[in-house]
Amino acid sequence: MERTYLMVKPDGVQRNLVGEIVSRFENKGFQLVGAKLLTVSREMAETHYAEHKERPFFGELVDFITSGPVFAMVWEGENVISIARQMMGATNPKDALPGTIRGDYAAKLSMNVIHGSDSPESAAREIGIFFKEEELNNYEKTIGTWT
Ligand code: TYD
Ligand code: MG
Repeated sequence: MERTYLMVKPDGVQRNLVGEIVSRFENKGFQLVGAKLLTVSREMAETHYAEHKERPFFGELVDFITSGPVFAMVWEGENVISIARQMMGATNPKDALPGTIRGDYAAKLSMNVIHGSDSPESAAREIGIFFKEEELNNYEKTIGTWT
């Protein structure tokens, strides 16, 4: 079963969008296997965004992602990596369609509310940066057994 790393960025936490964003992935049918609120250190941020190290926006990106708590999550489900990217919308909110998270809640490229892994390799890498194995819950949904 595929897993992805999703993160409500500091702007989304500040704007009380955590519940709304969690709801979208729950309603879609994905399973939450790990979640926590944390303040990202500069070292973690630089590792997480290492692919962008040489880009002109790298410094601002690291400043932003370390500026306040983020809500880090691991979600599981069939094709969750690509479906979550679709649900997030385009990186630049000016291109993100209404109905997507960025399309509905973001207006600036530098504050686009959510991060999501873009491939199985980046998902495995990013989950490893933010979560220990024992923080990830392997469980089956047992709907109906308590009714
Ligand atoms: P990127 O990995 O290209 O986008 P995504 O988050 O959709 O995977 O870029 C990482 C973040 O860097 C992006 O969410 C917002 C920020 N960013 C800028 O601030 N300026 C830019 O020109 C780009 C491309 C990204
Ligand atoms: Mg990316």
